[in-house]
Amino acid sequence: MDRPDLYQIFYVSRSLASREQVHDIVANARTLNARRQLTGSLLYTGGHFAQLIEGPAVSLAETMVAIAADHRHDTVRTLVKGRLAARRYGEAQMAYTEAPGANELIANLLGTRRVNTRRAQRVLDLMFKP
Ligand SMILES: Cc1cc2nc3c(=O)[nH]c(=O)nc-3n(C[C@H](O)[C@H](O)[C@H](O)COP(=O)(O)O)c2cc1C
Repeated sequence: MDRPDLYQIFYVSRSLASREQVHDIVANARTLNARRQLTGSLLYTGGHFAQLIEGPAVSLAETMVAIAADHRHDTVRTLVKGRLAARRYGEAQMAYTEAPGANELIANLLGTRRVNTRRAQRVLDLMFKP
């Protein structure tokens, strides 16, 4: 059952990680997220990340502080943040998608002053596995 205090964060960032480091990130995230009741999805284009994480407010906030300080990426830009009625990734501690074709799309989301919600939604659509 989902709890009433269910929140989500969706951000994009520029990768500074090697492919090997990305696989480490995913493996560790799956273990750590399971302990903290977090679920979500990570998309990697080769040059950028997009990640949606959902879970209880405190776990989510603590993990997001660690993620934002992680030197394997920079220019972390939060696109969506807020309360969530139900988990979208109820079963996945961290789903993982490689999408080289989405590199420009995320670069664009990082490069503009205002968030383009249509582009943000396109990235989410690429990550969502029904
Ligand atoms: C793109 C990216 C995504 C990450 N996703 C997660 C995640 O979902 N859960 C998690 O616990 N750590 C994630 N991390 C790793 C954290 O930044 C951090 O290394 C980890 O939470 C351990 O934190 P600690 O060393 O402060 O205990 C991610 C890192 C990067 C660069």
